[in-house]
Amino acid sequence: MSTPPLLPPPGCPAHGLGQDGPLRLYGPAAEHDPMALYEQLRAKHGAVAPVLVHDDQPAWLVLGHRENLEVARNPGRFSRDPREWGAAKDGTVVPEKYALSPMVTWWPVINFNDGPVFDRLRGAVLESLQRFDRRGIRRYVTRFAHQLIDDFASNGQADLVAEFSSQLPMLVMTQLIGAPEEHGPGLVRAVPDMLEGTETALESDEYVTKTLYQLVASKKASRGYDLTSWLLDHPAELTDVEVLAHVRVVLVAAYATTANLIANTLRMVLTDPRFRANLSGGRMTLAEALEQVLWDQTPINTVLGRWATADTKLGGQEIKRGDMLLLSLAAGNVDPQVRPDLSAPVHGNRSHLAFSAGPHECPGQDIGRAIADTGIEALLARLPDIELTVHDFELERRGTLMSQHLVQLPVRFEPRAVAATAPRPEPDRRPEPTPLPPLAPPAEAVPAATVRPRPSRWSWLRRLLGRR
Ligand code: HEM
Repeated sequence: MSTPPLLPPPGCPAHGLGQDGPLRLYGPAAEHDPMALYEQLRAKHGAVAPVLVHDDQPAWLVLGHRENLEVARNPGRFSRDPREWGAAKDGTVVPEKYALSPMVTWWPVINFNDGPVFDRLRGAVLESLQRFDRRGIRRYVTRFAHQLIDDFASNGQADLVAEFSSQLPMLVMTQLIGAPEEHGPGLVRAVPDMLEGTETALESDEYVTKTLYQLVASKKASRGYDLTSWLLDHPAELTDVEVLAHVRVVLVAAYATTANLIANTLRMVLTDPRFRANLSGGRMTLAEALEQVLWDQTPINTVLGRWATADTKLGGQEIKRGDMLLLSLAAGNVDPQVRPDLSAPVHGNRSHLAFSAGPHECPGQDIGRAIADTGIEALLARLPDIELTVHDFELERRGTLMSQHLVQLPVRFEPRAVAATAPRPEPDRRPEPTPLPPLAPPAEAVPAATVRPRPSRWSWLRRLLGRR
């Protein structure tokens, strides 16, 4: 498999590692082995470390388990609203032009707000997600998992990242949002493409917006048993554009996280003798295995971010009003204060930080867990002899400041005959250019200052509002 990138030795300026100054949290060296970097930072600074993010902007990386909880649970001290960022207020950084703009540019959606605006949006999203019947979700997962397995079972080999983990969550999510069957494959391709910033990312962005626009319009005409209909009917009275925005937030939040959880769990099941032996010997359930992975390989390493609303102290560091903080969920999960022995099994303990904590704690965690454990169960039941074709150390990971993902998971197994299946809907990349019915804009108009000079992850919302 691939050769690890050549890295400069520790201490070399190419690492961005000044002897005394803050370390860079971005760039190939930092992203190659983030866990090693976190331990280096913990050894030097303790629970909270000064770091540099893109363009060498200063930030605090929260490494301690307790300190992560303290930040996440106190939105009054550490806001989720990027308009609190001192560097944006004093003009050092223009959020819309900044490399991390999708994370630092404010929009009127659940994950950029606190207080009453947040409470209203969060209530609508959380209560709508809670309306799903778990057995119904599991039925969708089983159906799509078998469909995906059918596609490779007769080959005797597969790449479980490309052919399984990266497809299953989005197939299920398109059903949960109520997208018509023929839009499923198109969304399955377009959402990841849009997030990965490929050459076709803007085209995919257009496709996603148009598809969700049509989805909201069709659910306004005729409700279904789905998230979009429940958001439209929620007593918080979301506008149509708010409904569209939050269906989109949910799709984006669910996709890479759940795909990572599935891939990382499959990797552990296939490589770690504790899991294989325990699973076959019945001493560890798959649900417990998932929890172990949520401790050891968080689908999101780092949440960006929180912003200090006043001068304060955290983990012995003096935090100034307007400072940016990054929640290092991965480092918090291996904090020696809570896990002195990392080899000790966690036995289903759920006090990890993988879903964060506090008011913004992931509202879709049960759905993410259900997709992962039902999907993996289906795969192991169909192909119990599955094994990796490479050594664990050969598996390549790629990542960013925020997360790491496995590039491939190549496996082999005894080929199985597959019964003929019903024809599947064709991917619908370019829906008919039907005129879009008007949707109501959010009550709080998007401020002119946040309008971007170049296409961005949020350009769809501006276009939608500009259309009126
Ligand atoms: C196993 C997979 C998943 C993991 C590890 C995960 C993790 C997270 C994390 C760490 C956050 C950030 C919380 C913060 O800002 O402190 C988050 C937010 C969010 N997640 Fe998940 N997530 C997963 C799956 C899902 C799924 C399946 C859905 C929807 C069905 C979902 C919906 C959301 C939403 C809407 C937010 C924003 C919440 C807010 O800001 O109030 N997630 N998730």
